[in-house]
Amino acid sequence: MSSKISLTRYLVEQQRSEGHIPSQLRLLLEVVARACKGISQAVNKGALGGVLGTAHSENVQGEVQKKLDIIANEVLIEANEWGGHLAAMASEEMDSIYVVPNRYPQGEYLLLFDPLDGSSNIDINGGIGTIFSVLKKPEASAEVEEKDFLQAGKQQVAAGYCIYGPQTTLVLTVGDGVAMFTLDREQGSFMLIEENVQIPRDTQEFAINMSNMRHWDAPVKRYIDECLQGKEGPRGKDFNMRWVAAMVADVHRILSRGGVFMYPWDRREPDKPGKLRLLYEANPMSWLIEQAGGAATNTRQRILDIEPGKLHERVSVVLGSKNEVERITRYHTAQ
Ligand code: F6P
Ligand code: MN
Repeated sequence: MSSKISLTRYLVEQQRSEGHIPSQLRLLLEVVARACKGISQAVNKGALGGVLGTAHSENVQGEVQKKLDIIANEVLIEANEWGGHLAAMASEEMDSIYVVPNRYPQGEYLLLFDPLDGSSNIDINGGIGTIFSVLKKPEASAEVEEKDFLQAGKQQVAAGYCIYGPQTTLVLTVGDGVAMFTLDREQGSFMLIEENVQIPRDTQEFAINMSNMRHWDAPVKRYIDECLQGKEGPRGKDFNMRWVAAMVADVHRILSRGGVFMYPWDRREPDKPGKLRLLYEANPMSWLIEQAGGAATNTRQRILDIEPGKLHERVSVVLGSKNEVERITRYHTAQ
């Protein structure tokens, strides 16, 4: 068991022997991890820290912001703006990009995040997390602009999340598989708990918000109907269902034991391609899932191949165990 390897050591080794990451990216990831520790502390205090409840404001997507959404956003910005490794940041909680102020040196990376995913779980002491994605600023671009962020997910140079559950665990890829680190609160360090995380190709567990069933498209209905028919149906096996309502927690379960997660397009808001955001939710999660041997599509196309049109673009998401994701994609393309 590699429990003696800290995130710092893992990143230094990635930089030194594997050559996967330049020193500036290593620094950036260390800073993101430090910010996640800070967020974890605020989350842990809960009502004692006065951090629960609504902030009585809305983000650009029209969602009510919780106090912790705003706190987490501020922690990430304050931690990352002065280090010299970043050119700009983008967040679910900010309308437009945040360019590193002139008083600090500008680096070559772009950081995107959902500061607190699953915020409806905050006040019920349920699983929540921070999702992040790192891109390189295109070389041709002098002044950093919003369009620099509009890169397909396959261009990411690092991606991950930190889940604030019974344990605080940071999950990371720099393109060399997926590694998990749990926060040791006595030492104050993230320690490696698993390397080369692999998702089984088959599963008997699905995650979808079933209350939307009447709004689904026919192929989604067909897939879930077949699962629900269990042993007696065309799949010939029983399925279990889980839905935490925090993508970070549902994806963490899938990375831990397999499964398939779906937040598909539906008829409630037919003009929107889906609920989840491409750049700071679907892309980082899709890369992690692919790096762990799974698959991720918008039901028709690999998510990492999608060329984004705007910063807060939404997308339909199906990800997890490869054979199930391929089956769901087949049901859509056979339509
Ligand atoms: O960020 C959006 C999100 O909170 C995801 O984390 C989660 O998977 C989903 O929305 C839950 O949506 P719903 O409340 O519709 O089930
Ligand atoms: Mn989210």
